[in-house]
Amino acid sequence: MTAVPLAPELLVGTPLIELRGVTRVYSTGRLEVPALRGVDVDVWPGEFVAIIGHSGSGKTTLMNIIGCLDRPTDGTYRIAGEDVSSFDDDGLARIRSRTIGFVFQNYNLLPRTSALENVATPLLYQGVGRRERLERAKAPLERLGLGDRLTHEPSELSGGQQQRVAIARALVTEPALILADEPTGNLDTASGEEVMAILHELNDEGRTIVLITHEAEVAAKAQRQIHVRDGMIVS
Ligand SMILES: Nc1ncnc2c1ncn2[C@@H]1O[C@H](COP(=O)(O)OP(=O)(O)O)[C@@H](O)[C@H]1O
Ligand SMILES: [Mg+2]
Repeated sequence: MTAVPLAPELLVGTPLIELRGVTRVYSTGRLEVPALRGVDVDVWPGEFVAIIGHSGSGKTTLMNIIGCLDRPTDGTYRIAGEDVSSFDDDGLARIRSRTIGFVFQNYNLLPRTSALENVATPLLYQGVGRRERLERAKAPLERLGLGDRLTHEPSELSGGQQQRVAIARALVTEPALILADEPTGNLDTASGEEVMAILHELNDEGRTIVLITHEAEVAAKAQRQIHVRDGMIVS
């Protein structure tokens, strides 16, 4: 029989994310800060996982590694079975652009730039032409109820609206994984609940969600919780 190579999404027995013995040590002058000390994490396709821990426990460090924004000092990281631990910056950028949509606490939108242009930006890194970029950016904004805010700049939008623009931007490349670091951290209760409802909707459609938070209430809304303390997984 001829072996047929399987597309990653067909590898149902493979975690989307697999960290093994991941450490990350920051070197600041004479000081070495061990932010992660041997972390194992599996996230399966379609899961909604919350990573929870106090400030300084290593959550953002973990998110940067999961998001291919940073590399482990030691240990391995596989995405859909592919070992990306030793990828160079270009390799990481490529897998990031194909696989992951980011949502940050402070939205990270480009200032003095319209919602439409903000959402279109990730497509630039995939080499999509300007006209098609702007065309494709419309749908996720409309879907998130911002169809009448396409030309608004971040300063003209509320915090909740800015975070919805950021979610639209995370969705425009149709990534398998949405990685959200404290996405409700700067929002009032109602806007925060709205953002959580959107994440659940995306998860119901089959998208994998990894949510990072220090709030037990927010984490409780996920399917599964991973607790981080002092750079280690404690449960
Ligand atoms: N760039 C850095 N340089 C040195 N130390 C850092 C750096 N980033 C984070 N740390 C340290 O690593 C630990 C974990 O930080 P972080 O991952 O930001 O935790 P959290 O997101 O849970 O608050 C903390 O002790 C923090 O001070
Ligand atoms: Mg953090």
